[in-house]
Amino acid sequence: GQAEKLQAILESAVDAIITIDSNGSINSVNPAAARLFGYDQEAFMGRNVHFLMPEPYHSEHDGYISNYIATGNRKIIGKGREVTGRRSDGTLFPMHLAVSEFTMDGQVHFTGIIHDLSAHKATEIALHQAQ
Ligand code: HEM
Repeated sequence: GQAEKLQAILESAVDAIITIDSNGSINSVNPAAARLFGYDQEAFMGRNVHFLMPEPYHSEHDGYISNYIATGNRKIIGKGREVTGRRSDGTLFPMHLAVSEFTMDGQVHFTGIIHDLSAHKATEIALHQAQ
């Protein structure tokens, strides 16, 4: 059925997919998110999504979400942005972040799709050095 199809898509996606509620609490992550950030899938549940990012994002991310909810002013939703993520071992990596909004049980939620840019960036640097 439809639910099994959705599950298969989430399980097999190459990109990391994370959903949060309006407080930034993580509700779901796919296996690619676990691989990318270096935590078990269960370790994400209920944690604030800001644990996946370095400063200044870490301290400011709750404010980004509440600003958006208060004003409707989209900084990332529908546009995407290149930002920096933080893995469980503390290392930082470049990532492209796409965010979209959905309503579930009358509450606003967000989906983040994260594409790891570290291989792409390494190639860019190597090409520059070869010139
Ligand atoms: C907004 C960083 C992950 C949901 C933002 C902004 C930044 C940011 C810089 C815009 C701030 C502004 O210009 O006002 C990051 C970083 C992440 C991350 C570094 C690394 C893990 C996520 C994820 C989600 C998410 C996974 C959703 C599951 C949001 C929402 C907003 C936002 C809802 C406000 C809407 C908007 O500005 O359009 N984030 N974010 N973020 N982020 Fe994140």
